[in-house]
Amino acid sequence: MSDYFYNENLYETVEHDNFVDPALITGLKDFYNYITPKFAEEIAHMDPARLKINDIWASFDKDGKETASFICFDYINAVNSAGSGLFRSADNEEYRNFKEKYKNDFNIITEMRDAVHANLIKLGRDPGWIWTTSIFNFNKPFEIHTDGVDTLVKGQNRPEKWEDLAPSDYMPNEETPPAAHQGLINIDAGPTAGTVTFNQWYPYSVYLNYGVEIEGKWSVGPAPKKRIICFGKGDEPTRFGEHIRNFTNAPLSDEDYARIMEHVEDHTRVFKQEEGYGTSLEKILYFGEPGKLISWDSKRFHKTKPFNHFYQHKLHSESRMCYAYMSTTL
Ligand SMILES: [Fe+2]
Repeated sequence: MSDYFYNENLYETVEHDNFVDPALITGLKDFYNYITPKFAEEIAHMDPARLKINDIWASFDKDGKETASFICFDYINAVNSAGSGLFRSADNEEYRNFKEKYKNDFNIITEMRDAVHANLIKLGRDPGWIWTTSIFNFNKPFEIHTDGVDTLVKGQNRPEKWEDLAPSDYMPNEETPPAAHQGLINIDAGPTAGTVTFNQWYPYSVYLNYGVEIEGKWSVGPAPKKRIICFGKGDEPTRFGEHIRNFTNAPLSDEDYARIMEHVEDHTRVFKQEEGYGTSLEKILYFGEPGKLISWDSKRFHKTKPFNHFYQHKLHSESRMCYAYMSTTL
């Protein structure tokens, strides 16, 4: 891979109503509702009333053939506390057999991927290689982040000094697909749910929360997990020979914060203004009606539009179901 594994001209952040055939949207919702209790009983061996799938993920080769998959879920256990679990094709035969048993149902995922590919071309947005897709139904929002290319050192702890890292340690290799754009299509989410995009970008996949200490509470898990790709309190906005583009070096403005938090009842729990230090709001991309597409450059900082989450009592109450794709340049 060249020294420049990314393009500095970002894909435009766009929104399109009625992006796919409504029958596909209905089909995806029906599939999710049909497969959830089967999955709970046959694979997770749990009460379906206590389980909510939050990601039905698949990856594809360049010809659109599925190469791997997983299902990730949240559940309420016997003592009424929340947990999560994951079953994947890579290492679980029972799960692979489950996929085979319901393959006619799972087919809709590939159908949707093909429709997204074809319809992106119609919009004049190069689909590249759509290499992963998800049916998402999140229970809680997470930090501002990018989905740029993974650095090779993603799984390591932070070095003592950033200068201790050599470019060959962190730069992506030939096999790393260069990130292009990503998008979400509303399946069954409320019109005030959505994604927030910022004017800042970074070529690697990273998290940003200047409101917390680096050892503090992050959605990626307890420290030192992934702290090498987290920007927190006291961190310079530079790393891996790169810098956060358009970093403002100032707090997120009151006006931007108010727009981000519109429709959110409890501000303090889900997103604090100081978390967004250094950033400025680009767009609020509302999910709108089922079938609407929102899409942005994968290098651009973004986050789930904050929403209230009441994990234990409302596990099933609010749907944020949408279909996500990630595209890379061919
Ligand atoms: Fe993302």
